[in-house]
Amino acid sequence: MNAGIIGVGKFSPEKVLTNFDLEKMMDTSDEWIRTRTGIEERRIADKDMDTSDMAYEAALKAIEDADIKPEEIDLILVATVTPDQPFPSVACMLQDRLGAKKAAAMDVSAACAGFMYGVITAKQFIETNAYKYVLIIGVEKLSKITNWEDRNTAVLFGDGAGAAVMGPVSEGRGVLAFELGADGSGGKYLYEDENKHIIMNGREVFKFAVRQMGESCVNVIEKAGLTKEDVNFLIPHQANIRIMEASRQRLDLPIEKMSKTVHKYGNTSSASIPMALVEEYEAGKIKDDDVIVLVGFGGGLTWGAIALKWGR
Ligand code: ACO
Repeated sequence: MNAGIIGVGKFSPEKVLTNFDLEKMMDTSDEWIRTRTGIEERRIADKDMDTSDMAYEAALKAIEDADIKPEEIDLILVATVTPDQPFPSVACMLQDRLGAKKAAAMDVSAACAGFMYGVITAKQFIETNAYKYVLIIGVEKLSKITNWEDRNTAVLFGDGAGAAVMGPVSEGRGVLAFELGADGSGGKYLYEDENKHIIMNGREVFKFAVRQMGESCVNVIEKAGLTKEDVNFLIPHQANIRIMEASRQRLDLPIEKMSKTVHKYGNTSSASIPMALVEEYEAGKIKDDDVIVLVGFGGGLTWGAIALKWGR
């Protein structure tokens, strides 16, 4: 039996913070941010909206889209590096709020690759018949760990949530192949410090991301027994347009076959891939039996790529 995505939903906060707003807050420019990263604006959650609130909104939509009831969910996985608090987990908070009475619940910490780790964890439970429905949410309130005095990082990040319900799908559809990886020796390039601020060596992360995203895309296509020509859509982690472009070029894909939301949401870490997936799905760009490659990298360092055939 194959595990696949049977419902999706996303949430992005209303408040828009543009590059021009940032110009007034720090020594930066719209021109610098756009040309170096592709970002034009990002969404920032209000003070009274925490990570679990955004996760809840995205989850409700995914559950409705999957046409199941919260009581049917067997497991909730929340990928985040910005939980409301260390414990209880965001997943447990959601389990109660959604009324997912029989669901087990835990958070997954793999930074921007977190959603990929969640999807592949869910796949194992579903394909071994242990569970039928798993809810996975990638969600971040990065604005609460952003140092607004550090222009090297503050211009990059945004808040948001993307959710997917996974369950059994028809023969030939669902997750075809995956690759997950980690290199803890690179943890020093991207981490949260004792002041609860993101610290990043941008150049090192950039080099790692370009190399790893390209390699993982190629590996996962090969593992699925496919060729580059079989890929209908690439959904890369939306960190920086230049990194995303490197993956697209590695797959020889035309520009219209790559998802791009980085200009309006910035880097939303764990939420970036599911938010982009939902955006393309809602725009009608993803159809049944399309082959989609999801690929991400993040703090840890971590990475993950998934080839999947869309449809229930
Ligand atoms: N505005 C204006 N100037 C800036 C800004 C800014 N916001 N930020 C940095 N600069 C300056 C630097 O100080 C530097 O000045 P200097 O040469 O006088 O020292 C200059 O711009 C160039 O800096 P570079 O680091 O060479 O710029 P680069 O082209 O590498 O782009 C960037 C920087 C965008 C951060 C890039 O390295 C990058 O995208 N790295 C990957 C980041 C990423 O994807 N992180 C993922 C985080 S995922 C997670 O897990 C949360």
